[in-house]
Amino acid sequence: MEEHLTVGRVAELAGVSVRTLHHYDEISLVQPSARTAAGYRAYSVGDVERLREVLAYRRLGFGLREIADLVDDPTTDAVAHLHRLRGLLQEQRDRAAAMVTAIDRELEARAMGIRTTPEEQLKVFGAQLYEVIGSDYPTTRHTEPRIAAQVWAALGDAQTVLNVGAGTGSYEPTDREVTAVEPSAVMRAQRPAGAAPCVAANAERLPFADQSFDAAMAFSTIHHWHDPIAGLREMQRVARRVVVFTHDSSDTGWLNRFWLSRDYLPEVGGLIVGRPSVEELAGAIGARIEPVLIPWDCADGFFEAYWRRPEAYLEEHVRRAVSVWTRVGPQAEQRAVSRLRDDLSSGRWAERNRELVALDAAELGLRLLVA
Ligand SMILES: C[S@@+](CC[C@H](N)C(=O)[O-])C[C@H]1O[C@@H](n2cnc3c(N)ncnc32)[C@H](O)[C@@H]1O
Repeated sequence: MEEHLTVGRVAELAGVSVRTLHHYDEISLVQPSARTAAGYRAYSVGDVERLREVLAYRRLGFGLREIADLVDDPTTDAVAHLHRLRGLLQEQRDRAAAMVTAIDRELEARAMGIRTTPEEQLKVFGAQLYEVIGSDYPTTRHTEPRIAAQVWAALGDAQTVLNVGAGTGSYEPTDREVTAVEPSAVMRAQRPAGAAPCVAANAERLPFADQSFDAAMAFSTIHHWHDPIAGLREMQRVARRVVVFTHDSSDTGWLNRFWLSRDYLPEVGGLIVGRPSVEELAGAIGARIEPVLIPWDCADGFFEAYWRRPEAYLEEHVRRAVSVWTRVGPQAEQRAVSRLRDDLSSGRWAERNRELVALDAAELGLRLLVA
């Protein structure tokens, strides 16, 4: 048993309870490969290595099921796990430092009697929003094939494609060579095995040389960028063609066309104040603007996706996968949901939105910019 450690010794070294190790064994997460003569669990060097990865991912906040997928991924060896863990820990350290600074600023503001809005509080954390809500994303956010077809057609004959703000990679074409960029470690960690390689970076500073790609695409992400125009120009610097899926945030566009923001969640208007218009965005890169219709049974659960299936918005898991609901704050969310529930049961929603039932696809201000 020389090269094996007993369960008690492993627990002592790792600072976890023997019960935890027994549990990991029972759920097949870390199974000791041997037994002592007396029948106790005995851990080999390989078992300890796996346990170390499990405990590290656990400390980073991953759930046991997610960890099982990560450590069982045959394409990731021990060195790759160490690199990934190092990156995740570094990000966590930077995030903690940023949060301390943000909290200090808020304490100063409060001491002066200034209250920050939920939007301002989240803005301070920037892309960190996806560290908070990212783990709920894959539940309802999948590729919508009809919209994907429009995006892929706009990519033309591009063979090398950069996907900026790639998230879990929903719209990455499988027949081209894709490189992804995604700042959130939570989102990167949820990319499926075999997904395109993903670089941790922001759109505003892409770590690539000029004209390195045939095309750069960005899907449902530029509204999160600190500086969308800088990000679009970066895309144009590194690629010969740019394709962006976004929305027209003007009064006549998205906000008032969609019954949810118009009748139940006007706070959405506050989220877009000061943001460049779709014309300004397109103008910055000389793009043409194409409308994108949303099919009634849209497979990607973004904010507008359930325009003909209003009951979906009553579901917590549907709302958690859409950043708008977190950004407006819990009070607005609860009020909107409870009014919608009342209107659905009284028939008021159906009466007001009678014309929607006959539509197979809706024009709600979603746009494709192609340059
Ligand atoms: C709504 S998700 C979209 C993800 C993916 N494109 C999709 O369609 O499934 C928005 C993504 O933008 C990322 N993001 C936020 N700020 C960013 C920035 N400055 N540069 C690049 N990506 C950013 C977030 O981390 C998040 O993964």
